[in-house]
Amino acid sequence: MHLTREEERLLAGEGGEALSKAMEVLLAIGELNNARRLIPIASAQVSGVSYKTIGDAGLEFLRDIAQSGARVKVLTTLNPAGVPLESARELGFPEEFIRKQEEILSAYASMGIVTSCTCTPYYVGNLPRFGEHIAWAESSSVIFANSVIGARTNRESAISALAAALLGKAPEYGLHLEENRRGSFRVEIGAELKGSTDYAALGYYVGRHYQGIPVFSGASPGGEDLKALGAALATGAISMFHFAGATPEYREERLEKVEVGEEELRSVWEELNTCEDPDVVTVGCPHASLEEVLAVARLNPRREVWVFTSRQVKALVEEKISNENIKLIADTCMVVAPLEELGIKCIGVTSAKAAFYCANLSKLKVRFDSLENLLREE
Ligand code: F3S
Repeated sequence: MHLTREEERLLAGEGGEALSKAMEVLLAIGELNNARRLIPIASAQVSGVSYKTIGDAGLEFLRDIAQSGARVKVLTTLNPAGVPLESARELGFPEEFIRKQEEILSAYASMGIVTSCTCTPYYVGNLPRFGEHIAWAESSSVIFANSVIGARTNRESAISALAAALLGKAPEYGLHLEENRRGSFRVEIGAELKGSTDYAALGYYVGRHYQGIPVFSGASPGGEDLKALGAALATGAISMFHFAGATPEYREERLEKVEVGEEELRSVWEELNTCEDPDVVTVGCPHASLEEVLAVARLNPRREVWVFTSRQVKALVEEKISNENIKLIADTCMVVAPLEELGIKCIGVTSAKAAFYCANLSKLKVRFDSLENLLREE
């Protein structure tokens, strides 16, 4: 991979050890993927935030970078943390966990990163333009940025997104290149999709069975449906999709067809459902939009619903929510918070991504269903 003189100097350590390590990371990834060069990025979204997922080794690593004085070069936002920052103690999260989580966030803050703690950075001010190059981690925001916004990012890891943020650059390969953003197969939807949970089931099925860039047709999704579809697709290895009539880079082309109908969607419900009566019903994977929070309020739930969202959305709506069963929780989510340590055994979710990770990462039993159905079964 070609490096500029400035990049060579950084690699040699002239900008300090942290930037030299960051150059090493991007160089290794770039060479592995035959990138010709590094390109400037407009923003980064960094994952690897919850103490539950990065542990002491991750904290140590971040502490070292923070102490080196390195700072990010571009707008950089942060994925959800392991606890809601304002109410963690009140909700009974373990003290040791909270303390380590605070340390992780202060390390990121000292690098100049906005501690937004949300996986929907595009709702809170990190909204790239069409065609812009960015380096985002967090698979649901990556696929949303590529597919719905038309920005360009590979699925970065926690380390490569941080390295890109510190350098303001990313290796030019994969989805940064026009020729790799075309559809690779067409999905004909042979089932009626009644809401975003159905879109999540569709995405989960396609993400588990196929790779490449699916091109969907045969339905009219709204913005939240596209968000749910993308997050579920990204539970597999897919980082971009097109949807006829709904996404900006969709184009007519002749592609191999696959059909996903009632039977395939039923297999998803059967796979993801492992319990009947949830201890708690949760919404907001990815973090709920303003519209999604208001939709929960319109249902006027008679059992408790935890709605995970960003601090900004929470602040905008909390005064409008009078139903005490709706708990708005910012900064974290049902997957990266240690809910299993709060005694929860069966969790109700509307998101296929949350269903998959609650079962596989947190070892919880899952009820995956539409919110209407989860609330109906009191
Ligand atoms: Fe976001 Fe947590 Fe889901 S980070 S995409 S709400 S697993």
